[in-house]
Amino acid sequence: MRLIVVGFGVVGQSFAKLLLSRSADLYSIYGVKPRVVACVDSKGSSVSSAGLDLQRLLDVKKSKDTIGEYDKRSSHLDSTHIIENVDAEVLLELTPTNLNDGEPGTSHIISAMRSGKHVITVNKGPLALAFPSLLELANYNGVMLRFSGTVGGGTPILEFAKRCLKGDRIISFRGILNGTTNYILSKMEEDLTFESALDDARQKGYAEAAPSLDIDGYDAAAKLVIMANWIMNMKVTMKDVNRVGIRKIKLSDIQRAHKRGNAIKLIAMCDNKCLIVKPTEVSKTDPLYVNGTLNALTFSSEHSGQHTIIGRGAGGMETASAVLRDLIEIKDATFEHR
Ligand code: HSE
Repeated sequence: MRLIVVGFGVVGQSFAKLLLSRSADLYSIYGVKPRVVACVDSKGSSVSSAGLDLQRLLDVKKSKDTIGEYDKRSSHLDSTHIIENVDAEVLLELTPTNLNDGEPGTSHIISAMRSGKHVITVNKGPLALAFPSLLELANYNGVMLRFSGTVGGGTPILEFAKRCLKGDRIISFRGILNGTTNYILSKMEEDLTFESALDDARQKGYAEAAPSLDIDGYDAAAKLVIMANWIMNMKVTMKDVNRVGIRKIKLSDIQRAHKRGNAIKLIAMCDNKCLIVKPTEVSKTDPLYVNGTLNALTFSSEHSGQHTIIGRGAGGMETASAVLRDLIEIKDATFEHR
């Protein structure tokens, strides 16, 4: 399978490392032989129809800060030109999330689908702002749009709901979708102030570049929108979420909750009608009571009851593993019958 990778930050580089370490068994177990034929980062690009050398790509990125230095002949090509003109089966759209207008991710995804390419993205912006129309465009063009890594990092939250509960009806779901705020709230339970817990999260690299995305609940809201569209078939975007962040939570609030046997968590919930993100007291005996950067989601289904899935909600390699899952799914769905 020929891949175009747009965005070569933490997730893109982790994906390249994952391919390098797994190439033999990816072929023997799944029949997948990925070949990256083009790669674009914010400063340059490189193209090779024979396939780029992934180790060299990683080395060049590390030493020169852009993969444009890989091969000067193709370093100047812009992402849209590459997506439209380079022969490939799948676009990996791995640029950073922009919840204001979804760009440049949205344009990349649209260009790829219009030129008949399947798309895998970990970028929440395009989906949070325009999920219904992007899915429609994918169907219209007969291509697949997959986005496992947008929710839960490597934890298969979307697949769990979509596949494992097939035939059942999900009535509602609620849970923790943002690792950074969960880390901050967990640290505050250990008596750290909000500000020092946030500093701690920043230093450890969990927080988004603009911490407001985490703290004010935008990141959790974006993930909630993606889940509501994909799992509940709702046609919603960011503006449909009733959102409150954790900025106003004080140590005294946490201590009061603690006396009641509870903890405050930033809970995202959907009941088929409303989408809400807000700080909520959760019993310490509730399966959703997880700490650190963990995510946890409880699905309430009509026939099989409640199910909770817990896992690491962020991280380069974790998210890259979700990209790989999507790739195998696309291969299984589109190539096995040829
Ligand atoms: N900032 C996000 C989080 C990263 O903390 O969950 C993963 O989407």
